[in-house]
Amino acid sequence: MNDAFSEFVRKQFPAMKRKVNGFPAAYLDGPGGYQVPQSVIEAVTDYLINMNANVGHQFETAENTSRMIQNARLIFADFFNCDWDEVIFGANMTTLNFALAQALARKLRAGDTVLITEIDHEANRGPWLQLQDRGIAVEDVVLDVGSCTLDMGDFREKLAKRPKVVAVNYASNGVGTINDVQEIVRMSHDIGAHTVVDAVHYAAHGPIDVRKLDTDFLLCSAYKFFGPHIGVLYAKKDVLSGLRPFNLRTQQQCPPFMMETGTLHHEGIAGAASAVEFIADIGRKFGNDLTGKADEPKAGRRDRIVTGLKVFEKYEQVLTTHLIEAVTSEVPKATIYGPPEGHPRTSTVSFTLDGYTAEQVAGYLGSRGLFVWDGHFYAIRLVERLGLLDRGGLVRIGIAPYNTREELDRLIAALKAEDDLKRYLHLS
Ligand SMILES: Cc1ncc(COP(=O)(O)O)c(C=O)c1O
Repeated sequence: MNDAFSEFVRKQFPAMKRKVNGFPAAYLDGPGGYQVPQSVIEAVTDYLINMNANVGHQFETAENTSRMIQNARLIFADFFNCDWDEVIFGANMTTLNFALAQALARKLRAGDTVLITEIDHEANRGPWLQLQDRGIAVEDVVLDVGSCTLDMGDFREKLAKRPKVVAVNYASNGVGTINDVQEIVRMSHDIGAHTVVDAVHYAAHGPIDVRKLDTDFLLCSAYKFFGPHIGVLYAKKDVLSGLRPFNLRTQQQCPPFMMETGTLHHEGIAGAASAVEFIADIGRKFGNDLTGKADEPKAGRRDRIVTGLKVFEKYEQVLTTHLIEAVTSEVPKATIYGPPEGHPRTSTVSFTLDGYTAEQVAGYLGSRGLFVWDGHFYAIRLVERLGLLDRGGLVRIGIAPYNTREELDRLIAALKAEDDLKRYLHLS
C-alpha cells in the first residue's frame, strides 16, 4: 500500500512542489498545522466565488451559504459521531475553549474545583486557570516525567476532591503521548464532573467517537487535519442546553447556535468540511486492506472517515518506528522525549541534541528544507516539567500522511552531519 498511498496523497497537495535552497521542502511541522489538498483549496475558492453572503436572507447566495454550513455540520457530525446540532464552529480551539470555560463557570461557585493536567497545551489550561479570579480552585494532574505520561495515581487522588470540570488532552502536541481519555471521562463522570477533551493534536491521527468516549465537550482545529484555520467544538446537546454561554439576544438560544457568536468563517467552514471529505476519500480508496469494506457502495461517510484515519495511523506508525529507531541508534547526541515503547502515541517525535539548542537545530534543518518546530509549542508546562524550558525546549518532528521515509532519512542524515550543523552555526 505504501508507495501507491504516498504517491496519491502527495499529488493532492500543491505545496509539495516547494523548494528551499535547492532542497525539496519536507513539511515535518504537521502538529503546528497541516498542508491542504487541492480539493480544500477549491472548496474555499468555490465558496468565495459562488456563495459569499451572510446567512438568513432571501436570496440565492445567502440560502446557499446556509445550506453549505448545514452540510458542513452533517459532515462534522460524522467526523465526531454525533448529531449535527452538537457541532459548533468558531475562530480556533483556544477562543472556543475560553467561551466554553466562561459558560461553564456560570454554573460554578467560589470554592469549586476544576482539574487540568500538566501534559496539556496551554489552550486547555489558560481558560481554566483564569477562573481562579472568581475563587474557583484549579488543580493540576502531574506529569510522570520519566514516561511522559499522565500520573494516573495523581489523577485518582485529585478526582477524590470531586472537581466540577475535568479538562484533559487526547494526545500531547509536545511529545505525542495518547492519554486514556475514555477511562478519564468515565471516572470523571462517576463523580459528576463535566469533561472537556482537547483533541486538537489527536484529530489527525485516529478516529474520534464522542458517543463512545461519552465526553461532554471535545475540541479540535481543522487546520491540524488538512483544513483552513477554524476551530470546531463538539458539545453534548443536553449539557450545552443547560449552560448560559455569553451571546447576543439576536442569536438562537439553542444548540449549536447559542455558542456561535458573530459571523462565522464561512469559507473556512467550507474548507474544513472538504478536509473531512478528503479523509473519507482516503478511506474509500485505501481502506480495503484494513477493513475490506471501505469502498463498498453501502459504506457510509462515517465508516470512510474512520477508515481513512486508520489508514493514516497505519502509515504514520511505520514511519514513526523507523524515525525513533534511527535517531536512537544513529544520532548518539539525541535524547528523545516521549512515551515508552508500546504506549499509545501519535507520530509526533520530540528530542534534544546535546550541545545545541532546539532553535539552532531547527534553523539548520530549515536551511535544508526540513521544516520542524522548536521550543515549547504552547505545551509550556510539559516542557517546563521536563526541565527544558530555559534550555530552549525540544525539536519536534511531526509525521503527516504526505511525509515519506526518504524525507525522514534526509533528516537523519542531516542530524548525523554534525560538521554541517557547526558550519551553519559558524562554529567551525
Ligand atoms: C493540543 C493542542 N491544543 C490546542 C491548540 C490550540 O489550537 P488553536 O490554534 O486552534 O487555538 C493546539 C495548537 O497547537 C494544540 O496543538
